[in-house]
Parts: sequence; structure tokens; C-alpha cells
Amino acid sequence: MKTDTKTVVGAIDPDVLSFTVGEDPVLDLRLAQWDCYGTAAHVTMLTAMDVTPRIFTAEERDAILKKLADIRDTARAGSFVITDADQDCHLAIERNLTEALGPLGRRVHTGRSRNDQVATAVRLFTRDELLGTMSETVALAERLIGFAEKNREIPMVGRTHLQPAMPSSVGVWASAFGEELLDTLGILKAAYEYTDKCPLGSAASYGVPLPIDRKLTARLLGFREPIHNVLAAGNARGKMESIVISALQQVMLTLSRLAQDLILFSMPEFGYFSIPKEFCTGSSIMPQKYNPDVCELLRSKAAQVCALATGVAGIVEAMPGGYNRDLQDTKKLLMEALDTTRASLRIMARLVSGLRADPVRLRAAFEEPGVFATDRALELVARGMPFRDAYHQVRDHLEDLRGMDPDATIAKKTHEGAPFGLDFRLYANRIADGRKMIADFSEVVQKALSALLGA
Ligand code: ARG
Repeated sequence: MKTDTKTVVGAIDPDVLSFTVGEDPVLDLRLAQWDCYGTAAHVTMLTAMDVTPRIFTAEERDAILKKLADIRDTARAGSFVITDADQDCHLAIERNLTEALGPLGRRVHTGRSRNDQVATAVRLFTRDELLGTMSETVALAERLIGFAEKNREIPMVGRTHLQPAMPSSVGVWASAFGEELLDTLGILKAAYEYTDKCPLGSAASYGVPLPIDRKLTARLLGFREPIHNVLAAGNARGKMESIVISALQQVMLTLSRLAQDLILFSMPEFGYFSIPKEFCTGSSIMPQKYNPDVCELLRSKAAQVCALATGVAGIVEAMPGGYNRDLQDTKKLLMEALDTTRASLRIMARLVSGLRADPVRLRAAFEEPGVFATDRALELVARGMPFRDAYHQVRDHLEDLRGMDPDATIAKKTHEGAPFGLDFRLYANRIADGRKMIADFSEVVQKALSALLGA
């Protein structure tokens, strides 16, 4: 018979403890600093709460906040310790406060549950990570659009079904991915706004018989507002994670298709682009090899983020309302999805910075005359021929198209968004707007958090 392990919340069979604690002592190291802010807001609110006797005096509050700032710094430095008996960062922080401040530490959990506490810490963490993700998304979009602008006039065969379709340009190809990312930024923003509401004070999802001020704690943490209904606040855990990973999944879908195009168009058979050598790896047997491993792994990372999105949705979809321990397992999936997406965005931005277009190979790809067929048919239309007649005439004389000039052909495509109608000023404005949005969100967060617990 093993003896039970003593924890803050009672004695627990060691095997059960280790199974239920899972990876929390490691994963929660990333949440600990955020839980210090959540706890600081809660303690500040309890101090202001109109009850007799008061929970904390102003001096007691200051002593707790000082210790919380220390714990936060220790956590940031990577030296905070969570034991199995602590179970998670929340009880580890309570233990630290109690060790340092005795009875004060034992009052900190007044009027809250670990359920609203963890949901708050995860949201603070996610909000911060999403700000980083959004910046990295804009940075990659900017690189792609920069590459597009630099090579805007170089013709590139446009493809459907991977077959040559119509003359296009490197500008269209590259800025398409940039624009897709800028549009996806709107999805990330929606995920951010969903995350930017405070569950604190919902306690175990059913409120508490104390006059707590949930608007105050939300404001102290820089959240837009509290999640109003206490059960909605509890049930939103998992849903928030699912929404965020779905947004990340959208980023990864773009990265994966970009990676795939790069692999294809940098093959010797195409040679349109060259991926910088430092982003390729060699072979242990074939001396000539430079393999596009980074792009290949980006495809695989996208598949993994899709799996993580399915994983979280699976945990949440049939779960009954109120807290269930299943939710603990969403933390790892969320962190992994954020880490994977952010690392992918950063490596792709570096890769695109070093990407080179080969104008000779890009133009040589127009040798097969069929790619000009639609443009020729539309020339005939411009002279008055009905489109279907022009279509058949061109189809019957494809050889006549040989020698058409791709540069001249794409120069005629001047309408909005076409090779010579790309609006790089519009893109620059969208990039600047994106940056401004991120800076505005960050400012609100920074101001609130540094007022609460110092820089
Ligand atoms: N580590 C737990 C989690 O992430 C904290 C909440 C535990 N709550 C409970 N009722 N057991 O979900």
C-alpha cells in the first residue's frame, strides 16, 4: 500500500495524483507569471471589497503584491518550481504566498475557484501569444508583399490543375499569399477579441455569496469586460482554445500552400525560385543534394495544427456544462498550436527574405504557346468577335501563338488586382493598419499589467 501524498487540498493516492496532475507541473510554468497577475487583480479587488472585517488591509495587499511580483520574476526567469503535490501553478503560487506571508496567503483564494483562476491565466497567456502571432503574421505578409513588389513585372505562368493556364506575374503570386495573411489577420483579431474578456470571479461557474467586483478585476487585467454570466464564463474554457487554434489553423493553411508552391517551383525542372541554401539541408549519401526541408516541415506542421484543432474540439464537443477535468488537457494543445504556428511564421519570414526569382527560367516557362490562348481569344473579342467564336478559332490554331511575348501580355492586365493593377500602396496601408491595431491592443494590456504589478 502506497501512502497518500499530502496536498493543499487533501491527501491523494500518489498514482491518482500523478495521473491527474499529468504534465501540469511543466506546462504551468508558462502560466505561472500570468496567474500572478490574475491573483494580483483578485487580491486588489478583495482589498477594496466592502465587508467587515476586511479581507486585507492596504498594507497586507501591498505585501502580497510584492511577493507576487517576485514570483512573477522567478517564473519569467524560468526558476519557479511546481511540485506534484502542488498539482499546478495555482496551488504552487498559493503555497509560496503562504510560506512567505503565513495567514495572508491562506486568504488569497477567498471567493474564487481554481476554475476561474486557470481560465483567467490561460486567457492572459493567450492574449499575449496572439499579439505575438499577429505581429509575426504582419511581418511575413510584409516580406511577401515586398518580394512581390520587387519582382512585380516578372511574368510567371499562372496555373490551374497545375497545368499552364494564363500569363501571370511573380507579383501576383507572392502578394496573393501576403494578402491572404492580411485577411487572416482579421480572423486572429476576432480570436483576440473573443479572448479579451475576463472569466475571473465566476468561481466554480456559479458565483459566490460575496460582493466581489468583477468589472474591477477585468479592468485591472486590461480585459475589455467580464464574461457576464458565471456559467458562460466557465463554459467558455475550451471554446476559447478551440477558437484560437482554429484561427491558427487558418494561418497554417496559408503557410502550407506557400511552402508547397515553393517546393514545386524551386525544383530543378521549374527553377522559378531559389530557396536560400541555408534553408535547405544536404543528404548523407547524395553529394549534390539541397533539400527544401524547411518547406516540407511547414506542410507537416500545418497538418499537426489541424490535428490540434480537431483535438481540442473533440475534448469540448460532448462535455457537460461546468468545469470538467478534461479541460486541463486543452492547455498542452493550445500551447503546441501557438508554438508551432509562431515558429512557422518566423522561419517562413526569414526564408522569404532570402528568396530569389529567376527571370530567365520564369520567362522560359512560356515556351509552351497554349498559355497565351485565352489572352489571344480576348484580343479577338476586343475586335468584335463573339467570345465563343474566338475560343474555337484560337483552339484550332494554337501553334500561331508561339512566340507571343509574356511581358507584353501581362502588361495589358491592368484592372484591379491583375499583374499590372496591383496596388502596393493599398497593401502598405493594410500593413500599417495591422501594426496599429496590434500596438493599440498591446498598449491597453501593458498599461493595465504594469499598473497592477510593475514592469
Ligand atoms: N490544473 C487544473 C486545470 O488546468 C486547474 C483546475 C482544477 N480544478 C478542479 N476542479 N480540479 O484545469
